[in-house]
Amino acid sequence: MPPESIKFRQAVGADAEAMYALHKASVFQLCRHAYSEIELSAWFFGRSPDIYQSGLSSGEIEVACIAGQVVGFVGAIPGEVTLLFVDPVHSGRGFGRALFERGLSKASQGFVGQLLVVATRNSAPLYRRYGFRPVERVALVRGDPAVNIEVIRMERPSNGSPNPSIERTAFGCRSCRTLGASGRRYDPSLVTPSIPMPSWSSPEVVVQRQLDAYNAKDLDAWLATYAPDAKQYEHPGKLLASGRAEIRARTAPRFTELNLHAKLIKRAVMGSVVIDHEDVTRTFPEGPGNIELVCIYLVEQGLIQSASFVFGPAVVQGALA
Ligand SMILES: CC(C)(COP(=O)(O)OP(=O)(O)OC[C@H]1O[C@@H](n2cnc3c(N)ncnc32)[C@H](O)[C@@H]1OP(=O)(O)O)[C@@H](O)C(=O)NCCC(=O)NCCS
Repeated sequence: MPPESIKFRQAVGADAEAMYALHKASVFQLCRHAYSEIELSAWFFGRSPDIYQSGLSSGEIEVACIAGQVVGFVGAIPGEVTLLFVDPVHSGRGFGRALFERGLSKASQGFVGQLLVVATRNSAPLYRRYGFRPVERVALVRGDPAVNIEVIRMERPSNGSPNPSIERTAFGCRSCRTLGASGRRYDPSLVTPSIPMPSWSSPEVVVQRQLDAYNAKDLDAWLATYAPDAKQYEHPGKLLASGRAEIRARTAPRFTELNLHAKLIKRAVMGSVVIDHEDVTRTFPEGPGNIELVCIYLVEQGLIQSASFVFGPAVVQGALA
């Protein structure tokens, strides 16, 4: 918890210089493990303390001070916490949480809908703890030549008391997002212009797409769920096929089997790993039958990087009769 000596107050024009110096120190020190040197050096390109002007004049920004010195600040408008920076000298003492909670309370007040934060990679875990979940990766475009700095749009439902008059109805274009009913725009130079980053499907969605394409016997759609250099193994380490061409060659004959069908028995998902337990109906050289299979998929960047299969015994229909 922050010490008693910390004071919070609304930021004023005279704070802009100190805020800007703190903002830079905070990004350079506290974001440095999450961003490259190129990204960090582009972060403040062409910017100045003027970036806070509209936020200061509308009273959106609050500063935390110790002995009169600004040690952090937070910005909030209905529906969004727009800024959160702590002086690296004072980081890790609970000031970030304290400021964020104040911003969150202001952003939630009378707001109905999804609350938004645009998180740096390093701050996303903090927002997660307050129930925010990533919805989109976007890029701040900064520098010359332009550098895309990835940030994460995170949302969570508002718990504020309903007041439909300030419900946010939609996002406008990301370079000048507009708050719906209030019709307000906030200073785009603070967090924008931004462009959508390629957003990857979740590992579970990718594996399900793979299963659907398998059962539709759509070889191209199925193969498209694998990375170009993906590998298939017989668990634990026997390489079956490496790269899309080999995987296609290994699998294409199977897709001609009329009765081919994989029935999902159970699925477990943990991070980038998806484990499917399946009962697969096939046509074996000995005749139609079934084989139980456990498939361990590693999915990164929206593609299956590796699939490792545990083959159960094949049961040929009629063989037991
Ligand atoms: C993100 C930030 C505001 C957090 O402020 P802070 O005062 O350092 O954080 P707090 O002391 O309140 O701690 C908040 C959480 O972050 C963790 N944390 C704090 N400093 C950390 C560090 N250097 N490395 C890893 N985790 C850290 C704490 O463990 C704490 O988690 P917990 O509550 O589960 O224990 C601050 O680190 C910062 O300004 N970062 C750079 C700018 C930035 O990314 N801002 C966010 C813009 S969206």
